Amino acid sequence: MIVVKTRVELQEKLSRVADDCVVGFVPTMGALHNGHCSLIDFAVKESDYTVASIFVNPTQFNDANDLENYPRTIESDLELLKQHGCDLVYIPNVDDVYYNERSFFVDLNGLDKVMEGEFRPGHFDGVVDVVSRLFDIVKPDKAFFGEKDFQQLSIIRYMSRDLNVDVVGCPTVRENDGLAMSSRNMLLEKSYRDEASVIYKSLNWAKDNYKGFAVSELKEEIGKRISETGKFIVEYINVVESDTLISIDEWTDNNVNCCVAVYAGKVRLIDNIKLNY
Ligand code: PAJ
Repeated sequence: MIVVKTRVELQEKLSRVADDCVVGFVPTMGALHNGHCSLIDFAVKESDYTVASIFVNPTQFNDANDLENYPRTIESDLELLKQHGCDLVYIPNVDDVYYNERSFFVDLNGLDKVMEGEFRPGHFDGVVDVVSRLFDIVKPDKAFFGEKDFQQLSIIRYMSRDLNVDVVGCPTVRENDGLAMSSRNMLLEKSYRDEASVIYKSLNWAKDNYKGFAVSELKEEIGKRISETGKFIVEYINVVESDTLISIDEWTDNNVNCCVAVYAGKVRLIDNIKLNY
């Protein structure tokens, strides 16, 4: 596995890869876990040459403490990437990515205004900025993103329509008790971690039972279940059309996801589930 720190080195290495090779790309912020590794596995399977990036992108953090406390585990990250067959890793510093004026602006058609966009102002602007920069640097044929960050995946699909990058969504990988894997899980205090499976259990309950409830009742019931432990503060629970992210009040035949954001002490966790597909 080749490790590079600058885009110049990266492009030099990529110039040696045959033109007809399908380049698969997995952008990450490091602190890698099995969720990230599953993206690498998909990339290795579905492309000829796999590139990963590790870059804690400052522009997508709307909270300075969150950025400062974001876990950094570079040695074990590199070991995992190697084990999973990644070919090239790009670990840039801020200047290497933000070396020029921003040139990519896109109207996200409201996808960025709800849920995470509402509660983390500016977050998706930073994500779109960095992903478009990374796409521009790596020039992948395919890029792999997790369904765990459902809204991010929708937004990246939308922004990539004209970019000639095939965006592939990959299923959420969970801990044994159902908690969605996340780099932030390692920041959870034990008492929160012990109870955190209630988030997925409540979503799973919703998937099995949504037909018996009005949308608003379902959201209320999920909220009750998550709050019952007395440990978690729910920030939002939303049922949205999967394509448009528009909140629904009445059930529809279109695909819908239920998305939640929850505070476990200082740590913010998100999760979602497909309800009717
Ligand atoms: P990060 O949180 O490191 O996640 C990198 C990728 O791993 C994202 O596509 C995310 O959805 C996916 N992922 C995280 N947890 C997962 C899980 N449990 N199962 C499956 N996939 C999972 O998301 C980001 O970084 C950044 O916003 C980034 C896209 C890299 C831009 O900075």
